[in-house]
Amino acid sequence: MTILVTGAAGFIGFHVANALLDRGETVLGLDNLNRYYDPKLKAGRLEQLERRQGFRFVYADIGRFQALEAAAYNDMPKIDRIVHLAAQAGVRHSIDHPQDYLQSNYAGHLNILELARRLSNLKHLVYASSSSVYGGSTAIPFALDNPVDRPTSLYAASKRANELASISYASLYRIPQTGLRFFTVYGPWGRPDMAYYRFTADILAGRPIPVYGDGTQSRDFTYVEDIVAGVVGALDRPPISNTAPHRLFNLGNDKPNTLNRLIELIEDACGKKAVRDVKPVQPADVPATWADISESRRELDFTPRTALEDGIPRFVDWYRGFAKD
Ligand SMILES: NC(=O)c1ccc[n+]([C@@H]2O[C@H](COP(=O)([O-])OP(=O)(O)OC[C@H]3O[C@@H](n4cnc5c(N)ncnc54)[C@H](O)[C@@H]3O)[C@@H](O)[C@H]2O)c1
Repeated sequence: MTILVTGAAGFIGFHVANALLDRGETVLGLDNLNRYYDPKLKAGRLEQLERRQGFRFVYADIGRFQALEAAAYNDMPKIDRIVHLAAQAGVRHSIDHPQDYLQSNYAGHLNILELARRLSNLKHLVYASSSSVYGGSTAIPFALDNPVDRPTSLYAASKRANELASISYASLYRIPQTGLRFFTVYGPWGRPDMAYYRFTADILAGRPIPVYGDGTQSRDFTYVEDIVAGVVGALDRPPISNTAPHRLFNLGNDKPNTLNRLIELIEDACGKKAVRDVKPVQPADVPATWADISESRRELDFTPRTALEDGIPRFVDWYRGFAKD
């Protein structure tokens, strides 16, 4: 049988696909290789995946149903699980480019649900949500029963809309689904639009780093290997329900750090001090994130193992090698 991984050329998709291949699964990776960030990164990830036995790539835009169905058509009888990670990511990008979220997130998620309906052997659909659904919630850590009806960006709104669409499809068509709310994921092969990546690139190149606010905002930075373990753990545990088989989980490190601490760790790993270019806080930014992972620990056997102190040097090592090529 085959696992469809959408967003396979993306940061998390690449790592998830690798982990699934490691345990002998057959993976159909799908992506539209868009130019939101340096396509060299997506090409580099894909090149590695395509060398591996059990992996095949299909190019498709999930925002267009016919193209999506045509790309997956031959494999449809074999697809028994989906890990849906393709999306337009980025909170700040959604301020200036709201339309990008219409196609990839609103339409894209619905199209994946429609594809799922047509798969006769589908056992489980796992999809990416985000800590941003908690908005500016001050009740921390963010628990699954916190209110999620006050998104502070269109990105967050699109992720919450995805969850609601999935809940409706679980109820209407009994498609077993698990939504995972990821908290600030970082690591090798990461996304250049994220602060840890930009800071590393700027510090090593001797450029000032843009810091929005005083650096006391905190994030529950989560190492990508821990996220992958959570995704695979969830995939192996489809929800069981005769009415609406759908569950949500937080995947975070349960150990928030400030932006100032992040900068310190990057400075140490780079062996160089940062020059800060201080800018006003951005309107969509939230002051703090922190995952309550008690249910993920209990139900998914999820245990984050990588402290920021260990993960950042690993990222910087990878970055130095990647930037040299
Ligand atoms: N990285 C994080 O910190 C984080 C946090 C919360 C949630 N998430 C979510 O996790 C998922 C993966 O994020 P990531 O960090 O790997 O981002 P990413 O941008 O590296 O990966 C997303 C991939 O999806 C592809 N894609 C986008 N739109 C598409 C479309 N219309 N059709 C086909 N492919 C498309 C992109 O080309 C990209 O390769 C996303 O759903 C994102 O919203 C990520």
